[in-house]
Amino acid sequence: MPQSGQFQSLFSQKLDRAVFGTYFLGSVVPTAFLAAVLHQYVLPGFGQDGLATTGLIGMLLGVGVLSLASFFALRRLVDTALKRMKADNRRLETILTASRDLSGALHTHSVADTAAQCAIALTDVGAAYVLLQAGRGKPLLVCESAGQDPAPLYQANQETIGEVLDAAVASGTPSFLETGDATGRGPSAIAVIPLAVAGGLRGAFVLLHTEPGAGFAPEQVDAVTSLAGFVSVAFQSADLQNSQRNFFSRVTEILVTALDAQLDQGDARAGHPNRIAAVANSIGRELGLAEEPLQRLHFASLLHDIGYLKIDRALHFDPSQCKAHPLLGFRMLSPIRLWQDVAPVVLHHHEWFDGSGYPEGRAGSDIPLESRILLVADVFDKLTHEDFECPAVGVSEALDQIRAGTGRQFDPRVVDALAAIASRGELVA
Ligand SMILES: [Fe+2]
Repeated sequence: MPQSGQFQSLFSQKLDRAVFGTYFLGSVVPTAFLAAVLHQYVLPGFGQDGLATTGLIGMLLGVGVLSLASFFALRRLVDTALKRMKADNRRLETILTASRDLSGALHTHSVADTAAQCAIALTDVGAAYVLLQAGRGKPLLVCESAGQDPAPLYQANQETIGEVLDAAVASGTPSFLETGDATGRGPSAIAVIPLAVAGGLRGAFVLLHTEPGAGFAPEQVDAVTSLAGFVSVAFQSADLQNSQRNFFSRVTEILVTALDAQLDQGDARAGHPNRIAAVANSIGRELGLAEEPLQRLHFASLLHDIGYLKIDRALHFDPSQCKAHPLLGFRMLSPIRLWQDVAPVVLHHHEWFDGSGYPEGRAGSDIPLESRILLVADVFDKLTHEDFECPAVGVSEALDQIRAGTGRQFDPRVVDALAAIASRGELVA
């Protein structure tokens, strides 16, 4: 299936052919037709009047030359218009792609990175920067940049850029400066486009042309100004996501503290969820997990036993009652949108690799990888920390005991990852 760029190319080719055909039919064909009519019907009527014949032929040639000249002139105009249209289409396509990428960007830095790359594509500048305000009334600082060696270029011209930046911030509109630098070492033109949000200024684009004599075309500025609108909305969305994450981190801490108090298994239990989260994170990174599953694993590690809050404390040591805690935890977490993908990891954290665990008796890869990691991290922490029933063992002894359950209770790949981390001395009991 053709991509949008291919569609654009096909469209341009068709338009080009149509324009050529129209002018050919409108100028060359009528001229040829006129010549044929004159030759067939008019010229014979002049008889031997050579002067009149020459005059007519000259007039005919003149009309033909003018017609052809206008044909080529019009083709040139159409070519220029087509080139402009193609450039506009490219810019539009770049903005549409950027708006799609920006809507999926969850973090401030990924929004800034996409914005800087897109600004380069829209303007062909040598370097683009996205500056952000760290807080109300604070100065704008470079968050992300793109282009060739952008950092030293910015540092070397900080004072000049600062003047254009101040002008743009004060007016709230794009500001420009042509430096006249023809050496190619400094920027030849500077543009600053503010990023405004409902509460005021959030940041700014700084664009530096480094080619001597280069400047900003009005259509390029219009395109970056349109992009700035999308980027501002994306920053607002990322800021909101960030505050939601902070809120959920604080709520998780409160729940973990409540869980520790509810389980009341002595001092060794204190910090158990945070230790598991650290070990699980190391295993996840060793296995090459991306940031999203690592986040899921982190929250699941902290909340894996949250279901115990729904079980009467007097029944905590009754195995038949305890087995309900993964399902109870799943039911507590799954209605909360930000924990919906954490809930299945909690549900399956007591499944065994051979299918003999609970609550569903899932086996192998049917168990979420994060749950398989969580199980190994949980058992490792329990083995290396004393509780009411067992004394603590060292890392080496704990690894031996876990290895004994490889393929039965534990995923061999996860156990290998734990062993690799231990061999580097990165695990402490
Ligand atoms: Fe558990």
